[in-house]
Amino acid sequence: MAKILVTGGAGYIGSHTTLALLEAGCEVVVYDNLSTGRAEAVLPPARLVVGDLADTDRLDALMAEEGFSAVLHFAGSIVVPESVENPLKYYMNNTNNTTELIRLAVKNAIPRFVFSSTAAVYGMPDTPAVTEDSPTKPINPYGRTKLMSEWVIQDTAAAHPGFTYVILRYFNVAGADPAGRIGQCTPNATHLIKVASQAALGRREALHIFGTDYDTPDGTCIRDYIHVADLAAAHVLALRHLEAGNPSGVFNCGYGHGYSVREITAAVKRVSGVDFPVAESGRRAGDPPALISDPSRIRATMAWVPRHDDIDAIALSAYAWEKKL
Ligand code: UD1
Repeated sequence: MAKILVTGGAGYIGSHTTLALLEAGCEVVVYDNLSTGRAEAVLPPARLVVGDLADTDRLDALMAEEGFSAVLHFAGSIVVPESVENPLKYYMNNTNNTTELIRLAVKNAIPRFVFSSTAAVYGMPDTPAVTEDSPTKPINPYGRTKLMSEWVIQDTAAAHPGFTYVILRYFNVAGADPAGRIGQCTPNATHLIKVASQAALGRREALHIFGTDYDTPDGTCIRDYIHVADLAAAHVLALRHLEAGNPSGVFNCGYGHGYSVREITAAVKRVSGVDFPVAESGRRAGDPPALISDPSRIRATMAWVPRHDDIDAIALSAYAWEKKL
């Protein structure tokens, strides 16, 4: 049975992937400092080790002791505006810690590394649908720290043939475990579907739409929303892909089509049955008008087939979880 180290496994995407790994028969050790994650999100038989990525001695000892066959690296900081105000936090938490983690993985001869990257590496794309070969021109420190980490991974793999990787570039991750066991708990989350669910539950006065004058059909931004359970499944496939000896690579994770902020608002109203107040506000800095994946590569290479590509189902699972919180 493969024994996997999951950094950030108490967080939103890491905890859902941990569940998928357990269901695929893996043994999982989660390493998380619980800065934004929650211990309750790590369901047994996964084991939680509370520790900081910056504590490299501890990580080194853990790797030497456990003999992992792969690292899935989720831990990191993800809030774009915060990265603009506090870039050093992002360069330390993301690029620095990832570099140390890779150094330790090589030192401990862990052969496989799966990395959480982001569509933010593309910046303001020239075309709405981006392939993995589209130019990477991040427009904020968050995107740059993730792109730098990608380079560290790729350069390391080139120099160390025993080190293989899959880099997954996530588009807009949303929803919760369809069985209702876990969901997004991140405090002060800024994600549209979560915020809209909070508005539907009366926990926010209104949903603010950031910008209604974009060059899109209804004037609001378009994003490619992917259900967290489909993203978790992609991680399991990525692991299998490397275990089977396939080449390392970079893969977009999205559905290949998008919804506007107004369409998402309507979906959350539909599934919740609540006509919550919506306010039209000015644009938020750094938002590209449209960001949609071309997911051809992951579909062709890993036979990834999304099972939850339904915006109402995504909105409903997010809303049901929010209600439970
Ligand atoms: C999200 C991710 C980012 C990732 C990117 C990739 C988070 C916090 N953000 O960013 O890490 O790189 O996807 O595509 O995980 N909006 C409103 N009102 C709100 C909240 C959002 O109108 O209250 C709008 C935003 O302006 C944007 C859209 O909804 O146009 C989506 O916003 P958000 O959910 O914050 O995600 P992204 O900024 O796309």
